[in-house]
Amino acid sequence: MKKGLIKAAAIAAVSVMAVSALTGCGKSDKLVMGTNAAFPPFEFTTSEGLVGEFDGIDVAIANNIAKSMDKELEVADMEFDGLIAAVSTGKVDMVAAGMTANDERRQSVDFSDTYFTASQVMVVAPDNADITTAEDLKNDKTVGVVLGYTGDSIVTDNLQLAEDKIVRANRGLDIVQDVKNGKLDAVVIDSATGKALAENNGLKVIEDAEAFEAEEYAIAVKKGNTELLEKINTVLAEMKANGEIDALAVQYNQ
Ligand code: ARG
Repeated sequence: MKKGLIKAAAIAAVSVMAVSALTGCGKSDKLVMGTNAAFPPFEFTTSEGLVGEFDGIDVAIANNIAKSMDKELEVADMEFDGLIAAVSTGKVDMVAAGMTANDERRQSVDFSDTYFTASQVMVVAPDNADITTAEDLKNDKTVGVVLGYTGDSIVTDNLQLAEDKIVRANRGLDIVQDVKNGKLDAVVIDSATGKALAENNGLKVIEDAEAFEAEEYAIAVKKGNTELLEKINTVLAEMKANGEIDALAVQYNQ
């Protein structure tokens, strides 16, 4: 009995040391989330955000992950195209950016379990009558995408639109303006964001479930960072089980 107690105490002491060796010892008490905050409802800026000016579903999830680790969440906002490099080089701890988990990206990063299903949609002018399917985009339409988004590769590689018919921008927020002012016939972008942007700008959303496959969002970490990945997956599992993810989707106006 006594022996057992001593042994338990020794194990406890060793594991406390092991934990502090992994988490403490000069390492920051911040968890840095890389994102591109031009993607409502997942991440956007607002005067009073959840973390500084940043708000959205991903910010709320990342905040819970940070809390579970007793850390403070820091948001690093950058271009979407630079996020994979930022997490692979350790500039940020993880990427929470409505990022679709796919094989191409899996070559550079590890993904958490998925937490949201989306697909691409087409955002067009409210009176547009000639775009009802993705195939219609091939009829000489000028189409906007955001550089490096899955919408970019779908328009480029799957639909194979002519290069001079594709306009690549850095932010979805900006490119839908060009649908509004008639410079573009359509923007191809993720469903939830497309709906939010269309609503805010008096535009229309066209879906095509046959052409646009389901995409699963996941959080990315540096390849091999299983310690963080497990913590992320634990929080995601909890938030799925207790309905928090669904509640966030409603709260942020899915
Ligand atoms: N789901 C798309 C992708 O992974 C778009 C994500 C854009 N996210 C953002 N935070 N801007 O390519």
